[in-house]
Amino acid sequence: MGVGIIGINRFVPDRVVTNKDLEKVLDTSDEWIRTRTGIEERRIADDDTNTSDMAYEAARRALEDSGITADALDLIIVATVTPDHPFPSVACMIQERLGAKNAAAMDISAACAGFMYGIITGKQFIENGDYKHVLVVGVEKLSKIVDWSDRNTAVLFGDGAGSVVLGEVSEGRGILSFELGADGTGSKHLYQDEHIIMNGREVFKFAVRQMGESSVNVIEKAGLKREDVDYLIPHQANIRIMEASRERLELPVEKMSKTVNKYGNTSAASIPISIVEDIEAGKIKDDDVIVMVGFGGGLTWGAICIRWGR
Ligand code: UT7
Repeated sequence: MGVGIIGINRFVPDRVVTNKDLEKVLDTSDEWIRTRTGIEERRIADDDTNTSDMAYEAARRALEDSGITADALDLIIVATVTPDHPFPSVACMIQERLGAKNAAAMDISAACAGFMYGIITGKQFIENGDYKHVLVVGVEKLSKIVDWSDRNTAVLFGDGAGSVVLGEVSEGRGILSFELGADGTGSKHLYQDEHIIMNGREVFKFAVRQMGESSVNVIEKAGLKREDVDYLIPHQANIRIMEASRERLELPVEKMSKTVNKYGNTSAASIPISIVEDIEAGKIKDDDVIVMVGFGGGLTWGAICIRWGR
């Protein structure tokens, strides 16, 4: 048996903020944002919707999709850099709301690569036989740490959540290989002081290089070739970075997930949100070989090669 995704879903807030809306409050333009980032609009949570609310909703829906009950969860991992509080963790907050009384719970911090770190952490517990079901959530309310007067960052980010239930899947399916990494020497390029501070150009260069390399590495580790890959799900930060990864894998445009236009960069939530949208659009089928790849503040990165299906 392999370890894979047996349930998945997402939650995004209803409120849409378009580039045109931002033009009214910042020295920016729809044209600049579209051509430099690919973003057209993003979702922004209301004041009374916090990170744990979005995490809970995505998790509840993912559990429903998996068909297992909350008391069958052994562990909850929430990847976020925007928790409601330093403690209790968002994982503990949603453990209560889900009624997952048998689950251990913790948050992890790996910024936009957090979802990759969460899945690979959860996978270990199932593979070694200690746990059967692990819930992983990637969630951010970045709008609460964005400096809304800084055009360098304010136009990029959005709020949302995505969640998966990990468990045993049929032989041949599930996680085939992974790579996680970090380079703390780059921490100065992307961090939170009060707000998000970013050296966009440095992060851009790092992302293009690392996303390409990690994607190629996980394909090789899985014993596959580039042409075996059916679909690429890159972290949705900037269409130009995503396109560079796609070109590195020599995949056609329709074989890459693209939701950055609708949601902006939702950090740890961007990959699971994209998977759900692609499943709904019929772009992901059972037995497809999928590469997910993310990067973020830390600097951190992570990639997973998975054969889809339960
Ligand atoms: O999840 C990880 C999070 N971070 C990222 O993924 C960020 C990676 N980096 C990027 O996506 C890109 O570097 C940005 C989108 C942030 C910036 O794009 P760029 O092509 O690297 O632009 P730049 O930083 O070189 O700036 C070009 C110009 C500058 O003006 P000057 O100095 O040439 O006069 C900026 O001040 O664009 C200006 N600029 C803007 N203009 C209009 C920066 N932000 C804006 C804006 N609207 N929102």
